[in-house]
Order: sequence, then C-alpha cells, then structure tokens
Amino acid sequence: MHFSSWSLSFFFVIFHSFSYVSLQANKPNVLLIIADDGGFEMGAYLNKICQTPNLDQLAKNSLIFNKAFTSVSSCSPSRSAILTGAPSHQNGMYGLHQGVHHFDSFNTIQSLPKILSNHKIKTGIIGKKHVGPESTYPFDYAQTEENNSILQVGRNITHIKLLTREFLNSTNQNPFFLYVAFHDPHRCGHTNPEYGAFCQKFGNGEAGMGLIPDWQPIHYQWDEITPPYYIPDTEPARRDIAAQYITMSRLDQGVGLILKELKDYLNNTLIIFSSDNGIPFPNGRTNLYDSGIAEPMFISSPYHKKRRNQITNSLASLLDIVPTILDWFGISNQNLTGKSLLPLLTKEPSDKSKEAIFASHNLHEITMYYPMRMIRTQRYKLIHNLNYLSPFPIDQDLYLSATFQDLLNRTKSGQPNYWFKTLKSYYFRPEWELYDLKLDPAELNNLASKTSMVDVLEDLKTRLFEWQKSTQDPWLCAPHAVLEDQGDFKDKIACLGLDNGV
Ligand SMILES: *[C@@H]1O[C@H](CO)[C@@H](O)[C@H](O)[C@H]1NC(C)=O
Ligand SMILES: *[C@@H]1O[C@H](CO)[C@@H](O)[C@H](O)[C@H]1NC(C)=O
Ligand SMILES: *[C@@H]1O[C@H](CO)[C@@H](O)[C@H](O)[C@H]1NC(C)=O
Ligand SMILES: *[C@@H]1O[C@H](CO)[C@@H](O)[C@H](O)[C@H]1NC(C)=O
Ligand SMILES: *[C@@H]1O[C@H](CO)[C@@H](O)[C@H](O)[C@H]1NC(C)=O
Ligand SMILES: *[C@@H]1O[C@H](CO)[C@@H](O)[C@H](O)[C@H]1NC(C)=O
Repeated sequence: MHFSSWSLSFFFVIFHSFSYVSLQANKPNVLLIIADDGGFEMGAYLNKICQTPNLDQLAKNSLIFNKAFTSVSSCSPSRSAILTGAPSHQNGMYGLHQGVHHFDSFNTIQSLPKILSNHKIKTGIIGKKHVGPESTYPFDYAQTEENNSILQVGRNITHIKLLTREFLNSTNQNPFFLYVAFHDPHRCGHTNPEYGAFCQKFGNGEAGMGLIPDWQPIHYQWDEITPPYYIPDTEPARRDIAAQYITMSRLDQGVGLILKELKDYLNNTLIIFSSDNGIPFPNGRTNLYDSGIAEPMFISSPYHKKRRNQITNSLASLLDIVPTILDWFGISNQNLTGKSLLPLLTKEPSDKSKEAIFASHNLHEITMYYPMRMIRTQRYKLIHNLNYLSPFPIDQDLYLSATFQDLLNRTKSGQPNYWFKTLKSYYFRPEWELYDLKLDPAELNNLASKTSMVDVLEDLKTRLFEWQKSTQDPWLCAPHAVLEDQGDFKDKIACLGLDNGV
C-alpha cells in the first residue's frame, strides 16, 4: 500500500517536471476566442440547422463543456470577469463600459494582460474590448473598437484574419496570449439597422453592403427553425433567429481562418472558445436563468489529448478562465475563487455533487439597475433578486427587436404569446427563486416557499453568502440590512437590519 502510493507520486513528479520543461522549450501560447452574445447555435451542441463546421472541428479536438456558465449575463461585466477572474461586483465593472454607462474596473485589480506581460508573454486583443480603464487592461497589441470600426475588427473576418497575421508576426517568437473577441453574433438593429437585425448583410456583396472576401454567407429559412424553449415560437422570433444564424456561420468561418493563421503554433497553443453571455432574446441576456448564463465552451490542449471530443458535465465558470490560463503558463494564482479547468482535460471528477458556480449581476445599461446574486449546483439554483419590488428592466436593442415587439404587441392586445411565461411574470419576480433543475430545467416552478425545501434553501443561502463575503461584495447585506465594515466595524463587519421586510 505504502509502496504503491509512493511510486505513484514519484511518477507524477517525473511526469510533471517533464511536461513543464517541454512547455517551456516550446513557448506555450494561448488563443482565447469569445463570441458576442453567442449561444449554442452550432453542430457541436446538436443544433441541426446552423452550419458551423469549423467550430465543430475545434470541438472534436477539445473537451466539450456541457455546463459552463458566465458569472454575469452582460457584456462588459462578463468580459471584465473573463480577464480578471474576479466577479463584476469585485472588479468594479458594475455595468456596460462605453458611452453614458461609463463603468470601469478598479486600477488596482489584476488582469491577464497585466499578469502575463510581467511574465514576458506578448498579449494581443483583436475585436471587441468593451472594458477599461487602459491601465487595468494594457494589451501589447490592440485593434479594438477604441480606434477602429467595431464592424471591421469584430465582424469582417478577412480583416480579423489579416490582424491575426500581423499580431503573430509581431510576437518575435515570444510566447503569446491572443484574445480574439468577435462582435458576431451580436444584434445590430439599434445601431446599424441598414445591415439587418444582426448585421447579417454587412459584407455580403449586395449593393451598399460591401464585401468580406473570405465569407461565404449561409442563409436559413425561418420556417425551418425551432426556437429554444425560452423564445416565443412566432414568425418574428424565427426570422430573428434565422438572421442570428447567418452571423453565427460568419463567426464560424472566422474561427476557421484564425486557426489556419495559427497552424504553425497549434502544437503548443491552448485554445479556449466561449461566449460572454446569453443570447439577446427574452429570458436570455441579462438573466441568471440557465438560458441567460449557460455558455458554449471548448478547451483544446496539444498536451492533453485524452479527452478530446468528450463531454464534461462538471460545472465550469467563466471565472475559471484566468486560473486556467495561469495554470497553463505555470504562474501561481493568488486570491481567485475560480479554479483551473486543465485537470478536467485529463479526468472527469467522480463526485460532482458538491460543485457550485456563482453569479452576480448589478446593471447592464446605466438605467437597468437590477442586482441579483445566484448559486447553481448540479441539482438546484437559487437566485436572490435584491431589487425585487421593481419591474425587471429591458435593454435598448432587445426592446427594438422583432421578437420583443411582437411579444409586447401580443401582450397589450391580449393575444396568445406562444411563450413559456407571461411578460408580467417576467417583469415581476419574487425576492428568492429556487429551482430543481433536474425536474424543472426551464425554471418555472419556484420552490423557495415550500416547507419541504427549507434545508436546501438554507444551505444554498449560506453558501451564496459565503461567496459574497469572500469576493468582498458591497451588496452583501442587501436589501434588508446595511453593511457596516469601517470604523468600529472594521474588524467585525456586520449586516445591521432595516426592518423593511415585505
Ligand atoms: C489602435 O491603437 C493601437 C495602440 O493601442 C495601435 O497599435 C493600432 O495601430 C491602432 N489602430 C488603428 C487602426 O489606429
Ligand atoms: C512581418 O514583420 C516584418 C517586419 O517586422 C515585415 O518585414 C514583414 O513583411 C511582416 N510579415 C507579414 C506577413 O506581415
Ligand atoms: C473587409 O476587410 C477587407 C480587408 O481589410 C477589406 O478589403 C474589405 O473591404 C472589408 N469589407 C467590408 C465590408 O468592409
Ligand atoms: C511543433 O511544430 C513545430 C513546427 O512544425 C515543430 O518544429 C515542433 O517540433 C513541434 N513541437 C512539438 C512538441 O510537436
Ligand atoms: C488577497 O485578498 C486579501 C483579502 O481579501 C487582500 O487583503 C490581499 O491584498 C489580496 N492579495 C492580492 C495579491 O490581491
Ligand atoms: C406592434 O404594434 C405596432 C403598433 O400597432 C406596430 O407598428 C408594429 O409593427 C407591431 N410590431 C410587431 C412586431 O408586430
């Protein structure tokens, strides 16, 4: 017994030091690809209509995550969490970064571009940055919306290909971290309606649309599409989805072009593909329901071939991306609540019953204050709606979408809405929502007030509170108490009650 466990750890040490040496010798790199508001519209996730051969091929060379989730379903907050490993309430990006929204992460927060630069790794970003300030996210190479048209750096796949080539040429054989942030398949009906609801006409070669030379547009019939359970099954919604699919296929071809540019680097490059938040449809983006936070995720490593084309059901968070990349580069990870996902590339955990992921939402647009906190285990989800007396807010681009307009019209005129909820129940939510995801994956049957669920509820509340504490959540005591953590309370922080329970 003693002998065999000793020899096992001996082999482990040998193997470990070998893999470290060879990683160093081969200058390990990372390619992180993030879709913008992208979901599961791809063959790898069993969508039979949307054509994504390049993503499907990447999936075949990857571990495919079935249960990966963002920590917040909103663009800048999610991207800040992807790049810092800290949830938005901890890194300061409480809502969208650009324009009137004006949110920024703290100057003191660590981020991948800062940490990796300190380790002589060349960092680059192509596409949608949407986080700031520059001092917190200082990439060595940056072609982003800050000084380019977002359509060129985020949707023109020929342009993105050429920028990728330029970046690789600028690395001078140094190890690199390249973050390609597509703007597809984001909506564009409220900023560039001339190109269609998802900019699906941009660069298609028709009059006034310009040409993206490397793109072969794929068109979809709206009546062939079956919307996912959380989108109304109406003609306007199906047409919306058909337009979104065109841009998902454009992103797919873009991924193919990038991988071709990287062909000489692929045998020492870790590739992570995911998306920032849920798709821009009702019950999707800005929600902490699974339809708002579940993300596609593939991780492909040249050093971990064992589980390629396998599926993991372990719970992963986009907060795990920083710990994963630091682990890959052999850099120690201080203070983050996430975990490296690299061990999953070797082995599926035998016991997943204790796993949990967390989320925290504060705002999307500046007017959309709707703070929520959430814990999700394999079986249950608990959402705490801190602002539960307010109606749930709707964002500008979703509001103008044909899907939402149709839903609103049907609601106002009392027609059937072909949706799985009413708008009223969507707007007005109770303070606590508890769902049994095994029996109720659509999260419709709130169990929070069931006496049989008291133990589950209390356990989840405690774990959520502990996570909020460990991530220094300013909303720790909201909405029924005030957090005191300074002066007399510096060493014994307290939630002091308000007597405002309803
Ligand atoms: C954008 O800014 C970066 C420096 O941050 C620079 O390297 C790049 O050339 C600029 N791109 C354009 C199109 O001006
Ligand atoms: C790479 O950069 C060098 C200069 O640093 C330049 O001469 C060369 O043309 C570049 N190659 C490509 C493919 O961009
Ligand atoms: C896309 O980028 C290529 C290369 O920069 C350019 O030639 C082409 O005109 C661009 N297409 C559009 C629609 O802007
Ligand atoms: C990776 O590919 C390069 C270029 O093809 C080759 O020189 C190198 O030996 C390969 N490394 C490994 C670990 O296969
Ligand atoms: C880690 O967290 C502790 C307490 O939350 C904090 O005091 C410390 O400064 C943090 N360290 C780093 C390196 O961020
Ligand atoms: C909704 O109703 C308005 C006003 O009647 C109308 O202009 C609009 O076309 C309708 N939209 C949809 C998607 O049905």
